[in-house]
Amino acid sequence: MKKIYFIVVLGILGITYSCTYNEFVIEELPPIDTTIVISFIDTIQPIFDSKCVKCHGSAGGLNLEAGNSYANIVPDRINEGIHEESLIYKKSDPAGTDSHSTKYSAEEAQLVLLWIEQGAENN
Ligand code: HEC
Repeated sequence: MKKIYFIVVLGILGITYSCTYNEFVIEELPPIDTTIVISFIDTIQPIFDSKCVKCHGSAGGLNLEAGNSYANIVPDRINEGIHEESLIYKKSDPAGTDSHSTKYSAEEAQLVLLWIEQGAENN
């Protein structure tokens, strides 16, 4: 008889937790204000500084260090027609399929894409 109570309690626990689980899986970002002009120097470069330059420094084919990064990105790694296809975005898009080791956060990816959409300026 005790075994049955045990199974019932386990079942209730199982149902409780399986029903609340979805809340944690769906991550929604607040919509980004697309009217704000994204600055390459103040907003995009700090992302490279913190996440990218340890591998993409002066030694490799893609230098993302301050002062060099812009010339390495525009125009070669920007796709003006399909912004999402820009290498500088696609390679580190957290929602994308590329196997590249390092990804932007969802928020960083939004900022990089918006900067490209605004003309990929050296601003
Ligand atoms: C741990 C080392 C490492 C870090 C950190 C890193 N990368 Fe890379 N990245 C690589 C390697 C290795 C390759 C070449 C293999 C490949 O294409 O996946 C590469 C390739 C690339 C390419 C395509 C190659 C090219 O010449 O255009 C881009 C674009 C790129 N990385 C962007 C970034 C960005 C943006 C960041 C920061 C968010 C970043 N990487 C952080 C190692 C790294």
